[in-house]
Formats: sequence, C-alpha cells, structure tokens
Amino acid sequence: MGWNNWNSLGCDVSESLLLDTSKKLVGSGLRDVGYNYVVLDDCWSAGRDEEGFLKEDLEKFPSGMSDVADELHKQGLLFGMYSSAGEMTCARYAGSLDWEENDAKSFANWGVDYLKYDNCYHLGRFGTPKISFDRYKVMWDALNATGRPMLYSLCNWGEDYTHTWGMSIANSWRMSGDIYDSFSRPDDLCSCVDASNPHCVAPGSHCSVLNIVNKVAPYADRGQPGGWNDLDMLEVGNGGMTDEEYKAHFSLWAALKSPLLMGNDLRDLSATSLTILNNPAVIAISQDPEGRSVARVRRELNVAKDKYGVGEIQVWSGSLSGGDQVLLLLNAAGEDTRISASLEEIFLHDGPEGSAPQVKEEWEVYDLWGNRMDEALAQKILDADEKEAEKLWKQANWYNATEVNYKEGLKKRDERLMGKKIGKIAPGGTWTADVKRHSVEIYRLKSIGHGGKRKVHAKEEL
Ligand code: GAL
Repeated sequence: MGWNNWNSLGCDVSESLLLDTSKKLVGSGLRDVGYNYVVLDDCWSAGRDEEGFLKEDLEKFPSGMSDVADELHKQGLLFGMYSSAGEMTCARYAGSLDWEENDAKSFANWGVDYLKYDNCYHLGRFGTPKISFDRYKVMWDALNATGRPMLYSLCNWGEDYTHTWGMSIANSWRMSGDIYDSFSRPDDLCSCVDASNPHCVAPGSHCSVLNIVNKVAPYADRGQPGGWNDLDMLEVGNGGMTDEEYKAHFSLWAALKSPLLMGNDLRDLSATSLTILNNPAVIAISQDPEGRSVARVRRELNVAKDKYGVGEIQVWSGSLSGGDQVLLLLNAAGEDTRISASLEEIFLHDGPEGSAPQVKEEWEVYDLWGNRMDEALAQKILDADEKEAEKLWKQANWYNATEVNYKEGLKKRDERLMGKKIGKIAPGGTWTADVKRHSVEIYRLKSIGHGGKRKVHAKEEL
C-alpha cells in the first residue's frame, strides 16, 4: 500500500512534491491505515555520468535522492523508485536495460525500498515469456546482489503472460495496460479485453476499471503472499468517476489483492476521497494474511446497458483467514439492479453443487462500507494541523495499523475491521441486495458456530 504520482501528476515530479505528500500521508492518517510506500514514477533523472551511473535531476531534486529517502524513512515511510527495462523510460528518460548492475547499486545507495520496472523501448526484446522473463530477471539479480531488500514491481502490462512467470522473480506484476479514470468506457487505446487472447499485443493506455477486472478474472488466483497481480494504481479522487464507482474500484482492488497505490494528488485530498481510501474494513480484506484473491463465480452479460453499451453483473467470492468469507456483488449495468447469491454459489470453490460444508452453516453478514468515516470528520481532519489531526483520529477511535497491524487486528477480530452487521444467511440460504448502478456491495461473512463438520486449516487459523 502506498502512493504513486503518475496517475494525477505524470512528469510533474519534484522533491517538494514527495515531501509535501509524505506530510499529508501522515497528517491525514493515511500512513496509519497502511499506506507506507511513496513511489516516484518516471521523469526524475538527468542522463548518466561518465561512469555510467544515473544522475538525479538536481533541479527537481535539489537535495538528491538519498536525502529524500532519509526524510521519508524518518516519517516511517518507504521510498519507491522507477525505471524501465528498456533503453529509455516511457517518457524518454535514460532506461536501465543493459545498465542493471549500475542502476541497482544507485537505488541501494540512495536507500530505495521499491522498484517499479517498466517496459518501454525494450529494443524488441519481447515476444515470448522466456525473452521477457530473462530481461526482467537481470534486474532482479542486480537488486539482490546489492543486499538491500527492495520490493520488485514489474510493469510490463501483462505482456508475454507475466502472470505465469512473475512470481519467480518479482513481488508484483501489472496485468494490463494503464488504467484511466473511467469505470467502464471502452477505448481503442485499450483494445485488449481478454487476457487469455494471445493475439492481444497492445495492452494500451486507457483501460477502464471494468476492462481490467475482466482481464484479470481468469488469473485472479495467481497472486499469493510474496507476489501479487497488480491491477495498476488507483484513480480514486481524480474526478472521472462517481462516488459509487470509486467505492467499487477500491473494493475490487482490495478483494482482488492488487497493490493499493493511491494515484491522486494528496495535496488536494478531498474529504470524500479520504473516506474511501481510509476504510479499514475494506483494507482488512486487502491485507488479509491468507492472501487469497476473490474469484468470480458468476458473470451475467446483457443486463441493462449503460451509455457505453456495457451492461453486466458479477458475483465474486473468496476465503479469508479465520474461516470468514468475502462476498462482492458488482453491478456494472446501466441501472440499479437486484443481485442474489446463494451459499452454494458463494462456496462454489469449496465444493461444487452445494457440497461445500459451509453451505450448511448459518452466516452473519457484515457490510464493509457500513462504517465509512463521516465526511464532516474527514474534513475536520484535513483542516487540522498534524497534532490536532492525530487527536481527532484518536477520538474517533479509527484503526491504526502502525500500532496494531492487520494480521494482529484480524486475529483479535477487532470490530473496526469487521464492518457493520446487517443480517444473516440461513443454512442453504441466499443473500439478496439492491445494488446501485455502477457500484458494488461488499461483505464479510462470518459463520455462526462452525467447527462442527468444517475444519479450518491450521494456516487459516493464524
Ligand atoms: C507506463 C506505465 C505507467 C507509468 C508510465 C510512465 O508504461 O504503465 O504506470 O509508469 O509508463 O511513463
């Protein structure tokens, strides 16, 4: 979890941007709900020196990268950096292809904790999984040789079936072309709609939330602790979607266990965006120690179409640590729709045709948006200075993951991570909800008194 400047600011990067953002992360409480990587994207360098080492642009970063890293570390944050496995980065700055050892050394010396590694200008070294794997592995080896732990985040847009080899060398891998700030609008610049289509050679740059979700569906289970499908940075707060659409986007990214990298300009953070991004009950799904993505159990096409001709509903479900289950009902149709899901369907992956033992249990249903922070409080926090904001957080008894991480909080079943109880599902029963157009309902299901026939695996017991 963290923040990256690209979606809202592109090449407009500077030392003051990173430092102001880090202050905002702390003051708004976002660091303490878990966002701790500050990731600088493209456009930060100024060529190479005579020895072949990347030079930071000292006009943009007058104190140099080491000082920026120190400053971030002092605030309990981690520093992410960007380069490309190509002769140039996508914005045509010096790339790291064939300079991997030098560049990994620079990153380690500067105190970098994370590398996003892009895919532009790769000199044609792609086209098969093996060629791409080998190109990305050179940097992995170079990073490891430095001895400094750095999260390695591949950004090759799902090309050459990254999900089949990413796990061997990286901690996350992008699954699609770049996201853009739209819920469902198809765009020619994101022509691939089906990740299993081998002829899909142009991952693109205008991929909607729905496009990315549909692409990742067949591979949702490829992420696991240590390596994750990356659905791209969040657009929450950038203005192109409604509140319901942003809630849906955030819920899906959390349930699919994508990295949660905020992509909005935090210097202008609105109260509405803060109350989406700081929801601990949804983040607890993302950070669940079992680390299993939801899987899609139903997709219905040709429901009422929206203005882009898109009209579908989807049901997603997945197991959580401690025997809980997450259920997500997605309405990507053009009008409000009633969606039902039976226990048989919700536990399909635990046994087909209703054979899963969970189907015979009774379940409590907790709405994960039920305790969203009140907007007036969020506004007060944003208007306050750092000390005052901290007080407001404490008074509100908001979840603080810096003090108690999600794993511990979940083990204790901290109420703030559970959502708001809104009902029950009887054994063999069905859950039904009215889901607004372009939105989701997302729930944590808790079994009442399981322990009879069903055995929770030791690993799941935490
Ligand atoms: C793209 C990448 C974006 C951003 C951009 C920078 O290839 O997918 O996330 O990093 O390059 O130029």
